[in-house]
Amino acid sequence: MAYNLLKGKKGIIFGALNADSIAWKVAQRAFEEGAIFTLSNTGVAMRMGDTAQLAEACNTVAIEADATSVEDLENLFKQSMEVLGGKIDFVLHSIGMSPNVRKGRHYSDLDYNYLTKTLDISAVSFHKVLQVARKLDAINQWGSVVALSYVAAQRTFYGYNDMADAKALLESIARSFGYIYGRERNVRINTISQSPTMTTAGSGVKGIGQLLDFSERMSPLGNATGDECADYCVTLFSDLTRKVTMQNLFHDGGFSSMGMSMRALLQYEKGLGCDCECGDEEPIDEDHKYD
Ligand SMILES: NC(=O)c1ccc[n+]([C@@H]2O[C@H](COP(=O)([O-])OP(=O)(O)OC[C@H]3O[C@@H](n4cnc5c(N)ncnc54)[C@H](O)[C@@H]3O)[C@@H](O)[C@H]2O)c1
Repeated sequence: MAYNLLKGKKGIIFGALNADSIAWKVAQRAFEEGAIFTLSNTGVAMRMGDTAQLAEACNTVAIEADATSVEDLENLFKQSMEVLGGKIDFVLHSIGMSPNVRKGRHYSDLDYNYLTKTLDISAVSFHKVLQVARKLDAINQWGSVVALSYVAAQRTFYGYNDMADAKALLESIARSFGYIYGRERNVRINTISQSPTMTTAGSGVKGIGQLLDFSERMSPLGNATGDECADYCVTLFSDLTRKVTMQNLFHDGGFSSMGMSMRALLQYEKGLGCDCECGDEEPIDEDHKYD
């Protein structure tokens, strides 16, 4: 159902690779709500993915930009303002990638060149987007900028690797820049901490299938889907949330406030290796006890 919440608003949406991408769903919802926007992704993603197809469906253009390149971002903001006929009202940063995760490097054996790339792509790029936008005065008063995060920024999740550090930095940038941009131009900056979601980036997380099942059992409302995340993004881009800024907003069905649920406990009990009455768990696998 559409409410015309974004009628007359202009945006830039980063990170729609294919129909599974959270950014793809945000673009579809923003379009339904009356927004006009440009899409952006890297050259490789545009060649390998379906961004052009989405652009056609949303009656817009896809502009190539590597979000780690200030020059590309300057060009993107300038071109977007030209195509859309004015300044920007909302931006979605839906970008994440870790070469350490991709190459299967353990967190205790990180490649530091890869770590630098993880942080640049997944977090510092958010600062670059904001700094470029501010220098170009590209965002309207009361504009809204949202980046996507994950609860591994606050708590340790097996297998999330250096992306946890990137998300912690991303959330900090939202607060630090939110102060400056809010005070000067009333621009609000938030992160949404989304449930695990089956996307191209999501499927790179070690044990994503089990993680999805675990968080589904732990969350009283169940996992939040990509479509539901898109709904939430639309409210944050709209004028209905004008005083929300510098927040990390959990969109996870209640997961982040849970300790243990009955559904998870029951499943855990089923999984215990020892079914005698001694209460011992399955023996520790020596090779993987520190994974
Ligand atoms: N899928 C999940 O479980 C989940 C949960 C919480 C948060 N998130 C976050 O949501 C965001 C979107 O991820 P997704 O799950 O939709 O996966 P996705 O793979 O569809 O999207 C990731 C996007 O990042 C883009 N990207 C990578 N390097 C880039 C660069 N240098 N410049 C510009 N774009 C670049 C990719 O091309 C891709 O479009 C990410 O920040 C991710 O960490 C995902």
